[in-house]
Amino acid sequence: MSEKKLYSVTALFNTPDEISKAAEVITNEGYKNFDVNTPYPVHGLSSKMKLKPSTLGYFALALGLSGATIALLFMYWTMSIDYPMIIGGKPFFALPAFIPVTFEVTVLLASVGTVLVMLFLFFKLPNNSHPLHDTEYMKKVSNDKFGISIEAKDPKFNLEQIKELFASLGAEKIEEIYYDEEEINHKNKIFEPKFIAFLFVVAIVVAGGTYFTLNKLLYMSPFNFMLDQHRVDPQAKETIFQDGFGMRPPVEGTVARGFMPYLYQEDPEKAGMLLSNPLMATEENLKLGQNKYNTFCSPCHGYFGKGDSRLNGQFPNPPSLQSEKLIQWQDGRIYHVIQVGQNIMPSYAKQLTEKEKWAIVLYIRALQRALNAKEEDLK
Ligand code: HEC
Repeated sequence: MSEKKLYSVTALFNTPDEISKAAEVITNEGYKNFDVNTPYPVHGLSSKMKLKPSTLGYFALALGLSGATIALLFMYWTMSIDYPMIIGGKPFFALPAFIPVTFEVTVLLASVGTVLVMLFLFFKLPNNSHPLHDTEYMKKVSNDKFGISIEAKDPKFNLEQIKELFASLGAEKIEEIYYDEEEINHKNKIFEPKFIAFLFVVAIVVAGGTYFTLNKLLYMSPFNFMLDQHRVDPQAKETIFQDGFGMRPPVEGTVARGFMPYLYQEDPEKAGMLLSNPLMATEENLKLGQNKYNTFCSPCHGYFGKGDSRLNGQFPNPPSLQSEKLIQWQDGRIYHVIQVGQNIMPSYAKQLTEKEKWAIVLYIRALQRALNAKEEDLK
């Protein structure tokens, strides 16, 4: 190493008063690139040094605003463009509902982002070397001395003048600080093989420990008691019940939700007598009936129920739904045929909901009335 490069001149003082005075004088002399190091925060020092407020706040503001914008745009895109969903009848872009998420993303981005900006932009990580590290000066100012350090890059820097100034202020020890080789070559200690090897060891220990805990330890006694307790597995053989089945049939007479049992399977006449159409002949119900009739019934029974099948003999033609017999039938009797089927006509119980079946009955009534209009219907 040929020539040492000067970083700064430092001076140590004994009391907070002295350092405050020194900071004030040096600021007034017009020095810009200097710093004060004290073992604890000294009141009023930053105003004596005429320190400007940190610019970190602006980064926080910008990051927070971008968080809010990103959250809102993303929710707008998903909810209004990519996958619009009606939730509780609200508009696609329902701002009040988006506020919590927007707030969270704002805070998240502002806080995490600010810390990262501080570490990597302000503190220049991964560079962790600094000329003042490992110096006698740093040891003293982190113990009981108060130090000031004027950097060589200051425009007013003049070694002899500064030394004189420090001396006139009553400095105890004046010292020149030089860069060491490592700092000049910008070698980052973080990327030293030793440190990287350490990271590897940490990663392996954490991964191994997690694997061991979750896959081995929990299955060892006495931690395994929850897994070992007796339980009934679905579909498995089981000895506590006499029939050897683990799964129990539902209690007799249980009615599954949404599946009303049909009580008149074997008794069409009773169905005709006891069932009545719960639907009103509203336009909506008739539309539903028409829609379902045209889909499920019209291929065989024809659009007007005349029995004019469109199946060209692939299935026997049904009788007309316009017959005197059908007109006389109760609603429940027609419902019964949809529910159970009749001779070769299959049951439509599974294809149609309760409401759709009754809507079809309504529609058949409308067809019958339309093709057999009486004088009074015209009024
Ligand atoms: C695959 C063809 C086919 C379809 C689809 C069909 N039916 Fe039928 N339907 C028949 C046949 C065939 C008969 C006559 C059955 C018999 O021999 O009693 C019949 C009989 C009936 C009867 C009794 C008529 C009578 O005079 O006894 C009614 C009511 C009826 N169907 C209603 C419907 C309704 C409502 C639908 C739609 C949900 C429907 N059918 C769908 C073929 C069909």
